[in-house]
Amino acid sequence: MLAGEQGEVIERMFRLLVRLGDIYGADRMIPVGSVQVAGVSYKSIGDPGLEFLEDLANKGAKVKVPTTLNPSGMDLVDWKKLGVPEDFAQKQLQIMDAFKKMGIMMTATCTPYLVRDPPRFGEHIAWSESSAVSFANSVIGARTNREGGPSALAAAICGVTPSYGLHLDEKRKPTIIVKVNAELKDNSDFGALGYHVGKLVKKGIPYFKGIKDAEADQLKALGAAMAASGAVALYHAEGLTPEAGSADTKGLETIEVGGKELKETYKKLNTGKDPDIVILGCPHASMKEMTTLADKLKGKTLKKPLWICTSRFTKEAATRMGLTEIIEKAGGKVVADTCTVVSPIERMGYKTTGVNSGKAANYLPGFCKQQVVFKSLDDLLEEIIA
Ligand code: F3S
Repeated sequence: MLAGEQGEVIERMFRLLVRLGDIYGADRMIPVGSVQVAGVSYKSIGDPGLEFLEDLANKGAKVKVPTTLNPSGMDLVDWKKLGVPEDFAQKQLQIMDAFKKMGIMMTATCTPYLVRDPPRFGEHIAWSESSAVSFANSVIGARTNREGGPSALAAAICGVTPSYGLHLDEKRKPTIIVKVNAELKDNSDFGALGYHVGKLVKKGIPYFKGIKDAEADQLKALGAAMAASGAVALYHAEGLTPEAGSADTKGLETIEVGGKELKETYKKLNTGKDPDIVILGCPHASMKEMTTLADKLKGKTLKKPLWICTSRFTKEAATRMGLTEIIEKAGGKVVADTCTVVSPIERMGYKTTGVNSGKAANYLPGFCKQQVVFKSLDDLLEEIIA
């Protein structure tokens, strides 16, 4: 590949992987089972990103392994109804066309593990979206570093990634113990815990003790928040995640997190009052979350806008089950292919957004100039149900 025998594009992409491997001291390339590419929204990559992708696609770049995409900047079907500006939409559609030409699946989601065959335990993959990286490494036990958009694309086009970091056994060991002395009830409690711990451990690998039980959606909320406030790409949770049982925690420092810390985190993340809009589904909502929401909204009327972000795949399944209709009858919208943070909500007149996600609460002020109301799902619904 490096000698250019497979064409100019592969040579260019492979060179990028070699350089990355050299920086991190990788001794070889390893095949990857799947890739997830970030840098999809026009809001994040702009014209230079669009030109880069179109150039690759026009030169015949094709992916070698199943490859999915991170959320785009809009619902790719209902963008007009949702009021997305026309100029933005046209650029976003051009970006999607370039990815399609390369053979990438048109699944614009941060929860690819809910959409296509998830990776298996121990499988090497190259994923970019930080919350998906956390879920794949921690909850599934697959192996990926936090890839950037270009390095993930290069891995997809070459089918390999340099072997370093979280691909190696010795780099997956916990670096700190987090003793949780608080009751975690709602998904937002897991988001608050993740936000707090991410700030403290930064790039570390926390080993949680004391989390009695957690659903997959709660582990996804925990990992997403830690990856956003810090750069946690892997965590272990005693009794809950697959590598926790064999992890060596001897001699590690312990930090404790109790009700007081969680309360302070809620206070810190609440920068506004009276949301103009509530946005759920960060990371993208699972079928279980769609079902819960539809149950809560059945026969109700909303007095303020509600979006629930999810993948197209989950939206279609929810529609077939009649859940989308229930949510829409109440006045909510099921928005696919995009997310709160990469859609241009500030250009749509919203100033204060209500969320139950620690990750969204972390990013909304900076990325979307929003004030944030961070609460549990029930508390948010109470604010917007008429
Ligand atoms: Fe997904 Fe966007 Fe949240 S990418 S994790 S919905 S910030």
